Amino acid sequence: MSEIIIIAAMAENRIIGRGSRLPWSISEDMRHFRKLTEGWPCIMGRKTWESLPKKPLPGRPNIVVSKTLTQGSETAVFPSLEGALEHCKDSAKVYICGGGMIYREAMEYADSIELTLIRAEYEGDAFFPEIGSSVWEEEEREDHEKFSFIRYRRRDTASAEKLIKEA
Ligand SMILES: NC(=O)c1ccc[n+]([C@@H]2O[C@H](COP(=O)([O-])OP(=O)(O)OC[C@H]3O[C@@H](n4cnc5c(N)ncnc54)[C@H](OP(=O)(O)O)[C@@H]3O)[C@@H](O)[C@H]2O)c1
Repeated sequence: MSEIIIIAAMAENRIIGRGSRLPWSISEDMRHFRKLTEGWPCIMGRKTWESLPKKPLPGRPNIVVSKTLTQGSETAVFPSLEGALEHCKDSAKVYICGGGMIYREAMEYADSIELTLIRAEYEGDAFFPEIGSSVWEEEEREDHEKFSFIRYRRRDTASAEKLIKEA
């Protein structure tokens, strides 16, 4: 079984995208994304794939989830997220790289979330889902002037149930 890791950059108002683009350009975040994901399979939704300025992301198997896209030479295409995850099951790690629709669906499978939290609000039309504290705990945090790199890890079921009872 792979470790399933969601990787995303989100503004304070949960925006992750606007009209198929990132609303910001932060080179440190792009480097962070590349450093973490390089060498590992990257699963993304069809709209995110289409929005990539350069395809495929180099040095990583690019895997697209779509019911409409046909298999191309640059990427493997699967008609479901579960099918894409199954395809990657022999890899120690797999990264879920967006966008909003895929993040929402992947929250139930993910073991951890690598979140870049940008300390500003942006206009946009794609959002990151809620990261509920009964399910996720902050494991590591690196604060920078305008953003933070935060790693969340899924709480084990026992402690999540305990929290619910205590609430
Ligand atoms: N800030 C970040 O970290 C970040 C990262 C990535 C993307 N983004 C942004 O997110 C936005 C795109 O997100 P989005 O929600 O609009 O689109 P998306 O999640 O990238 O792609 C949605 C498409 O993926 C396919 N899909 C999703 N779930 C599926 C399933 N269960 N089975 C089969 N196909 C499935 C469908 O393609 P078909 O219609 O072809 O079936 C669907 O239309 C853009 O603005 C992008 O810039 C931000």
